[in-house]
Amino acid sequence: MPHLTQTVKTMGGYMGLQLPEGKPYYTNLIKLNTARNSLEYILVTRGYTTIYLPYFTCEVLLEPIRRLKLDYHFYKIDADMDPIIDFEVDDQSCMLYTNYFGVKTATVRQLSQTQKNLIIDNAQAFYAQPIPGIDTFYSCRKFFGVPDGAYLYTTSQERLTLQRDTSVDRVSHLIKALDLNIEAGYADYVQNNDVLIDNEIREMSQFTQKVLEGIDYDHCATMRKQNFWFLHEQLGHLNAFKMPFDSDDTPMVYPLLVQQPDLKAKLIARKIFIPTYWPNVYQWTLPDALEYQLTQNIVSLPIDQRYSIDDMKYMADVVKSLLTND
Ligand SMILES: Cc1ncc(COP(=O)(O)O)c(C=O)c1O
Repeated sequence: MPHLTQTVKTMGGYMGLQLPEGKPYYTNLIKLNTARNSLEYILVTRGYTTIYLPYFTCEVLLEPIRRLKLDYHFYKIDADMDPIIDFEVDDQSCMLYTNYFGVKTATVRQLSQTQKNLIIDNAQAFYAQPIPGIDTFYSCRKFFGVPDGAYLYTTSQERLTLQRDTSVDRVSHLIKALDLNIEAGYADYVQNNDVLIDNEIREMSQFTQKVLEGIDYDHCATMRKQNFWFLHEQLGHLNAFKMPFDSDDTPMVYPLLVQQPDLKAKLIARKIFIPTYWPNVYQWTLPDALEYQLTQNIVSLPIDQRYSIDDMKYMADVVKSLLTND
């Protein structure tokens, strides 16, 4: 690992990258290097031996589960993306639920009242505050231009002693996106995803903490909500996913569910880049499974702070033209 900060304060010399001063969004949560490792932190400190997790989620969550050699069972979700709970959680077990696309906070609230040993994955719901008493984690890079970083809320009193992570070898895609363009940094972004695999739990790097301190969180949330609602107005009637959206939610993307598996590729060909959440689900389920179809057919349209209403209008027009051309 590269050298961390010196013990003696240096003075003078060259200027480092200057970033705006400010405050992070979460000031009282545990700062870690990744969301998957936040799950590991929970599993270690709670001592669970079994975990129930959805088929419809990201495979990197299996990293800590495998490392700790826990038993794991997948559960299904329904068309509203609510969990189908046909299992019983005992004292040694826990249940993980994902706040899908950041629009499932109502379900999170409801589960928090009924479900024992619940863990909430808010990787796609950065702005959804933790519910008191419910272990919850966040992944910063899904919402902001940082290479890594996660927050953990837990009522467990146990604290792990951790080294601090460094991000220095994981920032090239961010710099390329800024200095060149997103496409120029894409290969580095993919490589960064690989570099994040199977890292030990560490404290969030200084670099990531510093970037997170300089963000205007209110502005970013306002832009996301405004863009989301605009797209919903334009495309809601075409969307087979009936949005359970409550006005407090600040979504990650606009999830448009249409029965047109090639729409993503067509948008990508027009330089509207649409990620697939999550390709591993194709391996975990069969084609007739709802989760398989969601993976194939949900078009996650970007709504973040980089875009204006004019951008959303352009994107909605492109989507509509592609849908009507078929
Ligand atoms: C739902 C979900 N949870 C957790 C993660 C893991 O986040 P991180 O990369 O911060 O470990 C991801 C994706 O990487 C995800 O999509």
